[in-house]
Amino acid sequence: MTTAAGDLGGIGVAGGAPGCPAGHRLGPAAEIPLGEGRAYAVAGAQVAVFRPRDGSVYALSALCPHAGGPLADGQLDGAVVVCPLHLHAFELATGRSRTGQQSVQVFPVELDGGEIVVYQPVAG
Ligand code: FES
Repeated sequence: MTTAAGDLGGIGVAGGAPGCPAGHRLGPAAEIPLGEGRAYAVAGAQVAVFRPRDGSVYALSALCPHAGGPLADGQLDGAVVVCPLHLHAFELATGRSRTGQQSVQVFPVELDGGEIVVYQPVAG
């Protein structure tokens, strides 16, 4: 894994610590327009990757904890994604709900040469 400083700027969640399992390469970040998200299958999990307008990347479980809505189709509002089904809001960096719901799972993610690399969450 490359950890060039230019690639890590603005990354939502640190990943790739020594001992971490290998990352899952999902393709060029440029395939996700700024301000949008996309859903990917990662080791049996559905992961929503978001690119806020500042060019950073974040990865959350693609299923809204409220009722399973498609978070990748949600609207980005700054550091928050708003689920399209019932408009509950979740912080991209932490997965915490700002509207009283259960938190959504956060996946470590980084850019490696412009490519999205997602890691399994650390248990605990
Ligand atoms: S399913 Fe996401 S807010 Fe209801």
